[in-house]
Amino acid sequence: MILRILRWAGLTFLAALTLLVASSCTMLGLNYASLETANKASPMPPLDFARLQTPDGRAEAMQMLEDTLYGPWPVGLPVSTGVWRMINPDYLDGKGTLEELDITIGQGPGARLFHLVAAFPKAAAHNPVVISQTFSSNCATFPGEAVTSQDGDPCTAGDNGPMVTFLVTHMFGEYISEAPVDRFFDAGLVYASFHAGDFIPDSEALAPKALAGLGAEVNPTSALMAWAYAYSAVIDAFEHDPRVDIHQTSVMGHSRHGKAALLATIWDPRIEAVVAHQSGFAGSALSRSQTGETLARMAKSYPHWLAPDAGKYAANPYLLPFDQHLLLALIAPRRLFLGNGRRDVWSDPNSSFRAAKAASAMWEVDGTPGLEQDSMRTFDSADGIVWWLRPGGHSIVDEDIEAFIAFLKARPTPSAASPPAELPTVAAPG
Ligand code: GCU
Repeated sequence: MILRILRWAGLTFLAALTLLVASSCTMLGLNYASLETANKASPMPPLDFARLQTPDGRAEAMQMLEDTLYGPWPVGLPVSTGVWRMINPDYLDGKGTLEELDITIGQGPGARLFHLVAAFPKAAAHNPVVISQTFSSNCATFPGEAVTSQDGDPCTAGDNGPMVTFLVTHMFGEYISEAPVDRFFDAGLVYASFHAGDFIPDSEALAPKALAGLGAEVNPTSALMAWAYAYSAVIDAFEHDPRVDIHQTSVMGHSRHGKAALLATIWDPRIEAVVAHQSGFAGSALSRSQTGETLARMAKSYPHWLAPDAGKYAANPYLLPFDQHLLLALIAPRRLFLGNGRRDVWSDPNSSFRAAKAASAMWEVDGTPGLEQDSMRTFDSADGIVWWLRPGGHSIVDEDIEAFIAFLKARPTPSAASPPAELPTVAAPG
């Protein structure tokens, strides 16, 4: 009897240990994402594409996202901008200029200011623009440039120590912080970037107060929605800038900022294309998937990313009246790039592919290609949904940049006479 109990205790211990090791392997990027989708559940519930194409259907769907995971899009939250400051008139050996703009969101004592840094190719006139939101400070994104640091002074070597840069880039890829702006210039793009945490701090302790203090009638209640709104504020700043073609505006974000980029694209019809790289849970991964991080773990570690009552849906995603294929469908017919790493099981590439497949018909009803690829291994940068998988883990590496640029360049060029996105309009941005 005692032996039996001991054997069971031993087996239970071994099983728990295996689970623990397996889950931290996933976290450390040591597992491989499954490429098999046929044997997995289809996203539920199926989408009613005809309904989603109507203004009421679209409004209903957006309301569901707001009421459950993300809280309200802060319609009318004031945005004001300063005047562009020249940082470097001979940026990248004279290929362009580097400039900075103060953007304030909110009103009253809780209004929050952040710095947008933009690189304009020489003689930019009506160029497409890509707006990136980052984890890293602007000092790290534009190393060696005197952009404003988080303390309000121009960046110095001390703001972006070589040791930190070495560690971060070795863990998360060469381009996790520094932006390869010359590559975007070669593609004819204006490149704009800001540090999301300067607007709403990425902190469970600080974010709720910052959100509540923004001083509008409708404040955002989740950091993801607020960061999404910050993309919109940047678009406001470019709206009348002759260097930029506002009809060719793309947004880009990695991971938590990929989640925010997806939300921004849903709520702001001015966005024509979105790059959401490794956006994971609350992004392009299915909430009901139990592979990788899971929505429950995400909500536990980063409760401030979601609306205050989202915890109950995260704990039981079957309470949600939708899954993330709905979120993807709301982006159609604008172009969508979903980046993935085979070893980034944490962000669950497999369920992201299934979500993209289930949303694809939303593009097709508009007569544009959706996700044409049959397997997770192929990639066509010109599709409506471009689903990209490379080897490796949670990072931004050279191959990703190449794929992002191929996608951005493959966009159809809309003219001012034919605005990019014909969405049933439900809410005006800003
Ligand atoms: C954590 C988190 C993810 C998130 C990622 C990131 O890993 O669990 O949900 O996407 O951070 O933002 O890099």
